[in-house]
Amino acid sequence: MVPENAMKWGELSTARGVYNWTAADAIANYAEENGKYLRCHVLVWHSQLPTWVEEGNWDNETLVEVVQEHIAEVVGRYKGKCKDWDVVNEALNEDGTYRETLFYNITGEAYIPIAFKAAAEADPEANLFYNDYNIGAAGNKTAGVERIIQLVQSYDAKIDGIGLQSHYVVADTNSYQAISNIMDTYTSYDLNVVISELDIRMELPSNSTQLIQQQLDYAGVCAACRDEERCKGITVWQFTDKYSWVPDVFEGEGDACPWDEDYNKKPAYYGCASVLSV
Ligand code: G3I
Repeated sequence: MVPENAMKWGELSTARGVYNWTAADAIANYAEENGKYLRCHVLVWHSQLPTWVEEGNWDNETLVEVVQEHIAEVVGRYKGKCKDWDVVNEALNEDGTYRETLFYNITGEAYIPIAFKAAAEADPEANLFYNDYNIGAAGNKTAGVERIIQLVQSYDAKIDGIGLQSHYVVADTNSYQAISNIMDTYTSYDLNVVISELDIRMELPSNSTQLIQQQLDYAGVCAACRDEERCKGITVWQFTDKYSWVPDVFEGEGDACPWDEDYNKKPAYYGCASVLSV
């Protein structure tokens, strides 16, 4: 399980030191009571920030302090419950350069290892991830991911893995081979990998040809994870088309999940399940 929004900074905090834990607690408690593995998302991201962070008058020292404070608060609260944490999310542009976020513009690349250090301090047992999209095949952006890994490791900060978000379009996923190869690259730094936000969208209305292609596409991505010893999990980003984020962002597209709007399993479900033998 992953909280899609409930643990984002902007959803949690309306003012410095003021947190509303209701939704996040509900998810963490549900996971604990039902023996679900909980991945947690997300500590440092430029999107869905509280207004008081976005509009704050920060310098390097005060921004670092507030980031460390936030990480200590949230990771500390869910210590032992959040098995994985997405510590830093989407820090890169498509060309592999750093995205000019609030954090980057004020602190520079050092905000990344600083965040990883703070997370490890708050829960030494949690698995700490760098998470991004379009990093499932070698290219400029994945070179950026390698740079981040080296940076964090050069600070002697703990990083345990890379989350390949894997938001795809039907018939245009990264190939099994491309994903396998890039996973080898990431694991060569002694890291684990996960498929962290899998969905494969299509033009609406969907038809049976697209749904069958989607089944093959899900199978390919899931098989790449299955065959990589250090690929520790696959998480779909929403499980039912009823609540997916896709139609809100990509007009005219959707049906990206393994379950349809009525919670029926789609061919996509069987595509992944068959290669995992579940
Ligand atoms: O919370 C407000 C609510 O108060 C308001 O009434 C409502 C009206 O629009 O909006 C609510 O906020 C929405 C929020 O989801 C919570 O539902 C935002 O408008 C909406 O933009 C936001 O979308 C989320 C998106 O991240 C924001 O960037 C999606 O649900 C979520 O699936 C998506 O997830 C991201 C991952 O975190 C990172 N990777 C990419 C992925 C897909 O974009």
